Amino acid sequence: MKKYLVIGNPIDHSQSPLIQNYWMKKHGLLDSIYEKRKVEKKDLKKIIEEIRDGKIAGVNVTVPFKKLIIPYLDELDETARDTQSVNTLRKVDNKIIGYNTDTTGFLKTVHDYYNFLTPHHATDVPRRDFFILGAGGVTPSIVTPLQFLVGRSSGSVWVSNRTKENANQLKKLFPKIELVKWGEVPPIFCDIVVNTTSVGLKKDDNINIDFTNSDKKTLFYDLIYNPKETPFLRDARLRGNKTMNGQMMFLNQAKEAFKIWTNVTPEIDDKTIKLLNK
Ligand code: ATR
Repeated sequence: MKKYLVIGNPIDHSQSPLIQNYWMKKHGLLDSIYEKRKVEKKDLKKIIEEIRDGKIAGVNVTVPFKKLIIPYLDELDETARDTQSVNTLRKVDNKIIGYNTDTTGFLKTVHDYYNFLTPHHATDVPRRDFFILGAGGVTPSIVTPLQFLVGRSSGSVWVSNRTKENANQLKKLFPKIELVKWGEVPPIFCDIVVNTTSVGLKKDDNINIDFTNSDKKTLFYDLIYNPKETPFLRDARLRGNKTMNGQMMFLNQAKEAFKIWTNVTPEIDDKTIKLLNK
């Protein structure tokens, strides 16, 4: 039996087993099973040993271990290095490698929406700006693809976080970002406003930022997908803006992880999406 795991704390809410087991069955990988396991920091070393011993074939890592797992790994892929965030593990030639598929997951989702994956390489292109709320563990996985999309246009990735010190830490990792005071908005049209904070996970939790003057062409994007519509997205919809929750990013990161482990590219079809919405 090939065993796969998602580790985190809490972990009950994770929909990864639902999706990964569905794809494993669909692709005839009948000797594979994917489970969730709630772990503490002290368990991380043992998990790595289990991968090394071949007892576990692959692991997804979720909150709060995406950064904490790094010291236990032998190598990181480029994106995991850039973001200092790991969500997928596998063994290659007895080395435990950490990957970050959140970044690709987000980039693919935005690309599918806008069809503008190619960054600007010319200088005479219209500027492209993005606004990120939050500077937590997942934020670097959003800064990286958005900086890629800004490309060489004169635009920026703007970031605002409640705690200034955490925003400053993020700027150390990404010196090109522009910091915005919490509660304020960038002085320019932004293509997308992304919520990477945990505000909205609890019902009626709202971010107290006034977006009433934002352009109707701005997409409001929330990484949260449960609840499906946070107050941040609801308010944007009521203002007439386009909105998107984190479900497609979740599916796209799962798809990339599945590819890393099995070399098979699973399809995100209506049935896959329906599984999550049951
Ligand atoms: P992580 O472990 O990923 O860092 P977290 O501690 O829940 O997760 O924080 C994620 C983000 O949500 C952070 O940017 C955090 O802001 P702070 O740096 O100020 O803590 C943000 N966040 C959490 N609760 C918030 C709230 N009530 N208002 C504004 N931002 C909040």
